Amino acid sequence: MKLINVCGARPNFMKIAALMAAYREFPNIQPILVHTGQHYDSSMSDLFFDQLQIPRPDINLEVGSGSHAEQTAQIMLRFEPVLQQIKPDAVVVVGDVNSTIACSLTACKMQIPVGHVEAGLRSFDRTMPEEINRLLTDAVSDRLFVSEPSGVENLKREGIDSSKIHFVGTVMIDTLLTHLELARRSDILQSLRLQPSRYGVITLHRPNNVDECAVLTGIYRAFDVIRQQLPLVFCMHPRTRKQTEQFSLWSMLADMKNMSVTPPLGYLEFLHLMSQAAVILTDSGGMQEEATILKVPCLTLRHNTERPITLTHGTSILAGNTTQSILQAYDRVDEIRRRTIQTPPLWDGRAAHRIAAILSKTS
Ligand code: UD1
Repeated sequence: MKLINVCGARPNFMKIAALMAAYREFPNIQPILVHTGQHYDSSMSDLFFDQLQIPRPDINLEVGSGSHAEQTAQIMLRFEPVLQQIKPDAVVVVGDVNSTIACSLTACKMQIPVGHVEAGLRSFDRTMPEEINRLLTDAVSDRLFVSEPSGVENLKREGIDSSKIHFVGTVMIDTLLTHLELARRSDILQSLRLQPSRYGVITLHRPNNVDECAVLTGIYRAFDVIRQQLPLVFCMHPRTRKQTEQFSLWSMLADMKNMSVTPPLGYLEFLHLMSQAAVILTDSGGMQEEATILKVPCLTLRHNTERPITLTHGTSILAGNTTQSILQAYDRVDEIRRRTIQTPPLWDGRAAHRIAAILSKTS
């Protein structure tokens, strides 16, 4: 069974890593890895292939950055001839980035079955590009692999036939559990002069948070207050770096004592940094899941989440994106720490195995 697997942007790589490892247990699956090139900096891509021991991509479409339409269209144009040449039995896409919708749509139009890993998640916020990608990818997929119960409900409500929906758990957590021990060997805390449990970790990259000067300034003001109580490490995404420069906000950050700004870190360093943190402040989707398993309080700098199980079972609360709302949420960190955290169902490190088993039977 020839199975094309697509990855393109940073959060895809930890998901693809788990799948590529699981396929080894199923000799009838011949995986082919396609990297769209949506993320291309070595700190956003190559580093993850090395650390997670993902096989080198068989094909790199090298699309790079662009507007949503440009990026999506370029991926489609370059993916179509790959499908024509390889004639795979199925295409597997993960997550909710532009590469996900571009490749699933291309495959669907060529009547090649599509499997979507992390299907059914909904923020119900159509201003998020990812929400559009999620809705459309699920609509054209033939196998929908769901990570949390809300995903099953969402898909059924949208009229997707139950026979296509498979509740399997989350592949991102497979990768976390596999690498946690190795990550502990990282010396990132020493390099950044941090004490375990005595610092906070920040990531930020959503357009809603970083593309408007007033919003980004308000978020940085909240960081300025928090860092006076707790040292902060801000692992800055290239998009956020660009916006911080454009809005002339660098000096504001540079003036903050107890605030280290780093480039994007490798998977192992970052996992260790998260696991030892007192609090995580982020607008990432995947980190809400990771924080829940690591039992580290997570202030989600958004008004909504497509991963509600991290609110009900986990360590996350919605903190919004204004100075005041973030500081109010920060005041609740001790309360979150006292929560009884329940591991969400099927977040047991076997999600990719379940997916590979289902795919191998559908050949
Ligand atoms: C993308 C995904 C988002 C995901 C995020 C994780 C979409 C719509 N968005 O957002 O869902 O959470 O990845 O990182 O697919 N850039 C670089 N080097 C790179 C990649 C990007 O400098 O390797 C810069 C470029 O200036 C680029 C900008 O970052 O224009 C944004 O990159 P893009 O892939 O468009 O979206 P992300 O914000 O990374």
